Amino acid sequence: MSVESKVRAVTTATLAKMKHEGEKIAMLTAYDFTMAKIVDGAGIDIILVGDSAANVMAGHTTTLPITLDQMIYHAASVVRGTERAFVVVDMPFGTCSGDERVALEAAIRIMKETGADGVKIEGGEELLPCIKKIIAAGIPVMGHLGLTPQSIHQLGGYGLRAKEEAEAEKLLRDAQLLDEAGCFAMVMEKIPAALAERVTRSVSMPTIGIGAGAGCDGQVLVVHDMLGMNKGFKPKFLRQYADLHAVMTDAIGRYVGDVKSGDFPNEQEQY
Ligand code: KIV
Repeated sequence: MSVESKVRAVTTATLAKMKHEGEKIAMLTAYDFTMAKIVDGAGIDIILVGDSAANVMAGHTTTLPITLDQMIYHAASVVRGTERAFVVVDMPFGTCSGDERVALEAAIRIMKETGADGVKIEGGEELLPCIKKIIAAGIPVMGHLGLTPQSIHQLGGYGLRAKEEAEAEKLLRDAQLLDEAGCFAMVMEKIPAALAERVTRSVSMPTIGIGAGAGCDGQVLVVHDMLGMNKGFKPKFLRQYADLHAVMTDAIGRYVGDVKSGDFPNEQEQY
């Protein structure tokens, strides 16, 4: 399969400049062409093809089951719908857990087969050899520290991370190592705001928070959550900008009623 690879308007240089000039970075997830077109058209800076697709699109309870082929399918669809935003794709669980060559091959497949702009990798110091190898191949890497859902079985839950001194110090050290390794940005998920602000001040790359407070250089949310499509999911960090669950349920309910009553289609809606 060949894809058209092009440089979109938002690049790693744009993102670095935004941090330098104090302009906040807005990032959202998308997993398909139609959503990517809407998100990109609304002016988002970064689109994340997150492995949260495993939850949102496929109904899994963790992000572990999604495969590299499935991530590539989602990412290629998103890239086809994106003109302006920087598109970054999650390396799925297992691709960076061992051999650096395997990790590099997975990252190269993502870049070649989707036309995306970079990859995101969950984890710190332990993954540095893989991260460095991928960066050395010319592929932009975004880090991800704090709550790293691919390690959910080790973490034991989706609660706040780095509350204790030792974990906070490790996170700070990991962030500095990722910065030195040349990551172009980093997600920090569900950590205390004061720690996220301290990390943000100590690294040159932009930091993007989710449940990490206002001191980050940017923010990310799962688009289905902020649009209110995921009924009942309301963590403290989530601001819900719409209630699409209600809007869609109402629209679909009215359609069902119109079909059953024979009101749809009417004279004007047929040939
Ligand atoms: O997969 C994802 O959606 C993510 C975000 C929560 C940052 O990694």
